[in-house]
Amino acid sequence: MGAQPMTDIEALFRPTHDERARQQFVSTLRKHAIVDLRNMMKRDWEGRVGPALEARGDAPADWRGIERAMEKEESFRFYSAVRYNAQEMSFLSVQDTVERALPGMIDVARDAAVRNPAGGSLRVPERFEVPRYVSSLDVHLIPGSFDAEYTRDDVAQGAVVAFGSKVFAGQHPFRRKPGAVAESVGNWLRLKHPGFRPRRILDLATTSGKNLFPYAGVFPGAELHGVDVGAPLLRFGHAQAEAAGLAVHFSQQDAESLDYPDGHFDLIVSSFFFHEIPLKSTRKVLRECFRLLAPGGMMVHMELPNESAVSAYENFFWNWDTAYNAEPFYSTYRAQDPVALSVEAGFDAAQAFAHLIPDWLTFGEERFARFVRGELPAPAHGSGGWFVFGAGKA
Ligand SMILES: C[S@@+](CC[C@H](N)C(=O)[O-])C[C@H]1O[C@@H](n2cnc3c(N)ncnc32)[C@H](O)[C@@H]1O
Repeated sequence: MGAQPMTDIEALFRPTHDERARQQFVSTLRKHAIVDLRNMMKRDWEGRVGPALEARGDAPADWRGIERAMEKEESFRFYSAVRYNAQEMSFLSVQDTVERALPGMIDVARDAAVRNPAGGSLRVPERFEVPRYVSSLDVHLIPGSFDAEYTRDDVAQGAVVAFGSKVFAGQHPFRRKPGAVAESVGNWLRLKHPGFRPRRILDLATTSGKNLFPYAGVFPGAELHGVDVGAPLLRFGHAQAEAAGLAVHFSQQDAESLDYPDGHFDLIVSSFFFHEIPLKSTRKVLRECFRLLAPGGMMVHMELPNESAVSAYENFFWNWDTAYNAEPFYSTYRAQDPVALSVEAGFDAAQAFAHLIPDWLTFGEERFARFVRGELPAPAHGSGGWFVFGAGKA
């Protein structure tokens, strides 16, 4: 008799009519903030506030000057109020649905951890110290951040982050869109380095593995590992992977100091990670990448474009999150040169890079291949492109 199939943990998320209506409303509100109000604010800067300062001989020298000027303006205040609330409401709007489903979700995650029918694993130590920069604030306005645990073997934060992120991004809760970043980075590596065949891949700050799972399709046979400091995220991701038939090894660890031996991985990736941690932690994580990569290995991190890569206005726009989205390290991270940070960690400057790549799904396979051949540019970060940095290890 074959192994008993796993219950799909995601299928237990069953919003009532009213909960779904609330979630859809929040998605629409957030889209309004991030598209319409963002454009409205830019028009206000370009058409009125900026020219008035220039006429007075008072044009701002950098993004901080733009921020100081815009903070007084109604366009900025209205945009900020709507964006802040839509962000917080994205996660709040799924809490009731998750709470109702929680006992069942915990049972499914426990079953996955005991049986591992797809061949993956979950390591969550009895005692673990979550860094204060995660545990002491509600990072990007997720109530309970990434690590809060309210009951034994809790998965609630995993579910809240997974489904709240779908509300945030305006996706249907059951649309199985693979991690767009992993799909883009993976296919970029496959086309750019046809001989590169990673045997072991590590995703740092994997959350629940959304941007790790697609590597199973891009590099079949590679062993997949994901680390994060949030235990509920890992339990939830492990249950998702096992139900999907993916052998993924999840482990609760701090990426600043990992327990794998030197040279254990051929590919180390991350997405949306470094802007959420202090600069001294970024330095430690990059040193760990250097230690953990085998010769010929690569690290590729998707991150926000650094300050010098975009205009002063774009910097003002991106750095909003520092003060208003509970991401205090955001602008400090963005002020760094990621290539210099990689070199400081031990990588050879000649093998380090920082640039845009297109989004695989929206750009399309044929145009993506043309990008890799240098025939087409990648779209801007956040508008169909992803900013990536990294290095190969000689
Ligand atoms: C924005 S999320 C990453 C999203 C995820 N990579 C994805 O693409 O779905 C940031 C993650 O970093 C994790 N994190 C923060 N500090 C960490 C550390 N020192 N080591 C490992 N994970 C960390 C958080 O728990 C959280 O899951």
